[in-house]
Amino acid sequence: MYVCVCNAITERQVRAAVDGGAATLDDLQFELGVATCCGTCAATAVEYLPGGRCSSVCEVRTLTHAAAVPIADQSGAAANGFPIPVVAAA
Ligand code: FES
Repeated sequence: MYVCVCNAITERQVRAAVDGGAATLDDLQFELGVATCCGTCAATAVEYLPGGRCSSVCEVRTLTHAAAVPIADQSGAAANGFPIPVVAAA
């Protein structure tokens, strides 16, 4: 996602700058040039700074998946004890 359309600066670039030590909008402007044209993106850019709304909430999280649960055993009986309905072919 672009944070700064005027300068084609992406969210990833802003996060990398913050990870590299940028702590103020001035830092982002100096390092990336964000918010140096129309300035519309300034409010969004500061949300990525430490303490900003996107500084931790928007982190990429690793998803975990529960182990697969069989729905039927090898005899065809439902693994949960409930009968599996059989539908006759027409
Ligand atoms: S959108 Fe960033 S300076 Fe215009």
